[in-house]
Amino acid sequence: MSAAEKPPFEGASTLEGSPPLLHVAIVMDGNGRWAKQRGLPRSLGHRAGVEALKRTVSAAPKLGIGWLTVFGFSTENWSRPAAEVAELMALPKRYFESDIARLEREGVRVRVIGRRAGLSSELVRLVDDAQARTDHNRLFNLNIAFNYGGQADITDAARRFAEEVAAGRRAPQDLDEALFGGFLATAGSPPPDVIVRPSGEQRLSNFLLWEAAYAEFVFQDVLWPDYGEDHLKAALAEFATRDRRYGAVVADDVLAAG
Ligand code: IPE
Ligand code: MG
Repeated sequence: MSAAEKPPFEGASTLEGSPPLLHVAIVMDGNGRWAKQRGLPRSLGHRAGVEALKRTVSAAPKLGIGWLTVFGFSTENWSRPAAEVAELMALPKRYFESDIARLEREGVRVRVIGRRAGLSSELVRLVDDAQARTDHNRLFNLNIAFNYGGQADITDAARRFAEEVAAGRRAPQDLDEALFGGFLATAGSPPPDVIVRPSGEQRLSNFLLWEAAYAEFVFQDVLWPDYGEDHLKAALAEFATRDRRYGAVVADDVLAAG
């Protein structure tokens, strides 16, 4: 069965009678600057970043968030020095070793989105195990983007669709936005409502390019290793002030114009 034929994942916000839950996506940025400010090696900034992730994951469900997608390692991060790449590659192990049992117990469904090619076989095993152990969970969804790039993911999705066509299972005219979305790594997750970037940078850096179509952006002046519940609350408060129209006009303006 192709990715596009899988039934949509029924996550937390589709539970009947419950208020819609938010999908928050975060570009975890500023680890290096955090370390530099303290005269520490960048590796310690990345390790402190894992602690910030733990705080954020525990805070999110209490704040009405049902999906959290975090950017851990981009397809462009391979161009960093080898020692730093090795440190970043070791972070999922560090995170899962300390937290996977708790995530499993607390109803968190973990997905790692991104290319498997390039990851060590040990890391792939670890990721597969974390996903398998939490696959039945429905209370909260944690997507970890690792070896992920928006352009790479769109390209991979296009290739998979082309393969379906070449195999005679699809025709070019079948393709529409919904079908295409089913070939992406994020298939089954709703699009992000808000994309948060700490550290002061104001760019998307190849994160969720397709999925960001109607996301709100919140930029926060805090380095990721310092991030926690209060910052997440502040991001949601800012998001709550936004007027989302999805390209339409608000009803009051239609009436006023008429
Ligand atoms: C985020 O922190 C971690 C990754 C991008 C993998 P950075 O390492 O980008 O930290 P800065 O931007 O140098 O401060
Ligand atoms: Mg950075």
